[in-house]
Amino acid sequence: MRESACVPPSSDDNRTEVRSSVNPRRTRSPRAVWLLALLAFVVVAGACGQGELPQNTLSDLKGPDARNVDRLWDLVFPIATVIFFLVQGLIVFVLIKFRAKSDDDQPVQVHGNAKAEIGWTIVPALILAVVGVFTVVTVFDINQRADGAEVLQVKVIGHQWWWEYEYPDEGIETANELVIPAGRQVQLELTSADVIHNFWPPKLAGKVYAIPGRVNYMTVQADEPGDYSGQCAEYCGLSHANMRLRVIALEPGEYDEWVENQQRDAVAAPTTTTTAAPTTTTTEAGADAGTGGSTTPTGPTAGTSLATEQEETPVGEDPELDAAIGAELFISKGCSGCHSINGLEGANGQLAPNLTHLYSRKRFAGAVFELNNRNMRRWLRDPPAMKPMNPDNGMGMPNLGLSEDEITQLIAYLERLK
Ligand code: CUA
Repeated sequence: MRESACVPPSSDDNRTEVRSSVNPRRTRSPRAVWLLALLAFVVVAGACGQGELPQNTLSDLKGPDARNVDRLWDLVFPIATVIFFLVQGLIVFVLIKFRAKSDDDQPVQVHGNAKAEIGWTIVPALILAVVGVFTVVTVFDINQRADGAEVLQVKVIGHQWWWEYEYPDEGIETANELVIPAGRQVQLELTSADVIHNFWPPKLAGKVYAIPGRVNYMTVQADEPGDYSGQCAEYCGLSHANMRLRVIALEPGEYDEWVENQQRDAVAAPTTTTTAAPTTTTTEAGADAGTGGSTTPTGPTAGTSLATEQEETPVGEDPELDAAIGAELFISKGCSGCHSINGLEGANGQLAPNLTHLYSRKRFAGAVFELNNRNMRRWLRDPPAMKPMNPDNGMGMPNLGLSEDEITQLIAYLERLK
């Protein structure tokens, strides 16, 4: 460029400039080609996976609707691939073959060529018609609502950042893990409590939006028992990536047992001889919470006599005593303002997952963490540190500032909720 800068401008000069800027690039090109090849390799290799691919939608599908979507893909993808290479190939071919050889070089004009124009209008229209017909058929197919006595109805409610499931006919509420009987159609009614989410269990079905103020439908069916991974597929804020889900399909017999267990109230909190007085206090606290929605800690009064007993028994020594105190902490620390435990007086919060059978689940907090005491301890120490949340604005669980002893006591109670 610099050599040509002092040359007076002329039509020839432009090309001199182009050449001088192209030539240095040419000398670098082998390296650029290698870099490009490396980049392409990395991108392609990124599509490889070793071992299990629990959300792969292309193989090993376990539900009729997932297969329906896959069949459409099997038709459209080869067509799209052929068109892609044909069009890109033609573009490259034309660019090279018909590149301008001089400034006077003009392409042959084909405007008014009726045959060519009719051809390139009709052929794409036909291709799109074929793709369109199969797409519309599939869309109608997977949007067909299942009905009949055999069909299990479940309401799915998206929350920032977890899934709530209600089984209206069974009277069950659970979270994050959708438990279904294998081999049976399940009709989901999806909605949201806050923003738009998207329910996506790829091995079993497609994606359906969960939208506030609206109900969408999805039919899910699992061919065989299994633990199927899925996730929220619509960006819904801070912890969207931590809004996973599981569909757990059980043998029909096991499923019936699960239903029976879920229908029961929570196992009663253990009482020791001295818990009689605090139990009544707990009832009052519950009544408070029920009428005013107040979650003001009532701990100091509620725990007094147990606390005296605890002075003689260090925390962690007597699980029964720990659990009895844990149940009271659940109310007094405000957990019950958001969480329900059916059968525990005063624990009827509706904002967060129902914990009546918490430890019957394998995972918690948006199905992100394995449910065990170690993870539960980390969680209770500081929930937003484990999963980004915004509790000050009503999104997710706040850090309650619990002491290690209080956490031990809460876990001693919670782990009984099977
Ligand atoms: Cu819910 Cu993303």
